[in-house]
Parts: sequence; structure tokens; C-alpha cells
Amino acid sequence: MTALLRPLQIGQVGLKNNLALAPMAGITNAAFRILAAGGGAGLVVTEMVSAESLKYANKKSFRMLELLPGERPAAIQLFGADPASMALGAQAAERAGADLVDINAGCPVKKVLRSGAGAALMKTPLLLGDIISRMVKSVKVPVTVKFRVGLEAGENLGPLLARIAEESGASAITLHGRPASQFHTGPIDLEAVAATAAAVKIPVFGNGGVENSEGARALLEAGCAGVAVGRAAIFNPAIFSEIAAGLSGGSVPPPSGADRMRLFLRFLELNAGLYGEERGLTRARKLVGYWLKGLPGASGARSAFMRLKTLKEAEELLIQYTK
Ligand SMILES: Cc1cc2nc3c(=O)[nH]c(=O)nc-3n(C[C@H](O)[C@H](O)[C@H](O)COP(=O)(O)O)c2cc1C
Repeated sequence: MTALLRPLQIGQVGLKNNLALAPMAGITNAAFRILAAGGGAGLVVTEMVSAESLKYANKKSFRMLELLPGERPAAIQLFGADPASMALGAQAAERAGADLVDINAGCPVKKVLRSGAGAALMKTPLLLGDIISRMVKSVKVPVTVKFRVGLEAGENLGPLLARIAEESGASAITLHGRPASQFHTGPIDLEAVAATAAAVKIPVFGNGGVENSEGARALLEAGCAGVAVGRAAIFNPAIFSEIAAGLSGGSVPPPSGADRMRLFLRFLELNAGLYGEERGLTRARKLVGYWLKGLPGASGARSAFMRLKTLKEAEELLIQYTK
């Protein structure tokens, strides 16, 4: 392994490499996380789970805590603005077997901001510090936090928030290099990321816009200890192996359409195991466009996919693409 690609220690948890799957609501369920772990990610992260919902024993939220073999090490991400609820949520995540508990302090969605959670915590750093320290005291597993470089373009809150996180006991940070106002588009502020990584001793995962080993290299050379990949992993969960090879001076070819379809069928199988065949397929509908992208007749296959009820039907539809 080169110096850029390396194993990483987060508290007592050892990662085989410093490439993480970024949390994505509606995407990073257990089925997807297994593909990403199999595709070379050193760490996978769940979708964000509401600490308030866990407090009120919401069944759907508890199901989101379930981790499967084949997706380790795994972080469970929580969102919320109340330190006591977040501490309870962290205990629930630890009981569910989380290797790490992550705090969402970067979500720009209005509903989340209105509750004071997500990126709103960047405006209330003392509250964020309180949440972190309460969670750290409540669980044995390492607590990590994910936030952005700022709320508005040009703002760099990274170093301040990173120091608060470190002093409050966080074991690592994921820093999305775009301000909250930019959601998920536009360039990242590499200087702000570098200043944040330099401000603390705990590992900082740089995040935003990484699509290949060059993107990962830029973040690592800016001083990040690791890299988190979001959207580029959605239809290529093996991207972590590609990035790892690129960082080591080698290369592995990107997956062919047939490779991708075989992985998608595997995903559908795992989804069926989690939710049952029909519901698993319904839940995969919003992803099928990503997976079929660029394949001949993709739009017809996509429409046909919306009507599927069984795995056998899915196989019949997609088998043509696996050869
Ligand atoms: C569909 C979608 C859902 C997301 N959900 C979450 C989430 O639950 N928690 C979180 O911290 N970030 C979430 N994010 C942000 C990603 O983790 C990541 O920071 C962002 O996509 C930038 O990385 P990328 O450019 O590699 O995609 C989400 C992003 C997308 C596109």
C-alpha cells in the first residue's frame, strides 16, 4: 500500500483502508452496504436515522439499525438536535452492533434544519459539542461526526467545528467540502478542507465530488486521512477497489455493463431478503435508472422494471444485459 492508501484507526476500530462509503438516505441500506464493502470500501455508513424516532420506538427506524454480516466495519448515522435523545440513539445503535456511531451535522434538507438538526448544528457549535460529549459518555464505540465546510459559499467553519468535535471526544470527522447552500452540486472548497484537516489530530475524511482515484488523491494530498465517496458509488459500488488501485499506481478496469447488471441482480436478491421480493423490487425502483444508465434499450427496461413483482421476473428482464 502507498502512503495515500492505508489502513486507518478510528478509536479502537481498525479499517482495512481509508476509503469510506458516504451515508446516503434512500440508498445506503444494508443490501447496498454489502455491495460497497465487497467493492472495497474500508467503512460503510447507514442512511441517517432519526434519534427522536428511536426514542419513541418507531419500528421503521429500528429496522434501519439492522446490520448484516458482510458489511463490516459499519457506522450507524443518527440525526437529531437533543443531546439526551442522541445519547439514547447512540446506545440503541451500539446495541444493534454498530462499530461506530456517526452524527449528521451536514444535512441541508429544510425539514431536518427546522428541527435544529443536520447542518443547523453548524450554527450552534456548543450544542454540537454537547451532543458529541453526551454520546461519547453513553457508548463504548467511537463517535464520529459529519459536517460541511460552511453554511454559505466562501464560509469556512471547518477548523472551528473540527476542534470542537475533537475536544468533545469525537474520534473522526467526515468533511463535505461544499457549503450547505450548495446541497450536492458544484466544486468543493479544497483549501477549506485542507485547513480543517490541519486543525485536528483525529482523522478527517474528505468528501465531495470524488469519482476516481484522482479526486481521492487531491483530498488525501490536501491532508485528509481518508476519503468518503457518495454518488459515484451508487451505480458502481466497486469504485473503492478502482480508487485503491489508482492510488497504488495500478489500475483495474471499470465494470462492464454485464458486471454492473450482475451486481444489480445481487442487490435485488439482498433487498428481497431484507424486505420480501415485491417490496424489495419496489424499493429498488428509484435506483434502476442509475444501474441501467448507458445500456441499450435502458428506458424500455426501466419502464418494465416498474411493473415487476418477483425476482424471477427481474432476472428475466435483466439477464440479457449480463452476457
Ligand atoms: C441521495 C443522497 C442522500 C444523502 N443522504 C445523506 C445522509 O443520510 N447523511 C449524510 O450525512 N449525508 C447524506 N448525503 C450526503 C453524502 O453523504 C455526501 O456528503 C454528498 O453526496 C457529497 O459526496 P459525493 O459528491 O461523493 O456524492 C446524501 C447525498 C445524497 C446524494
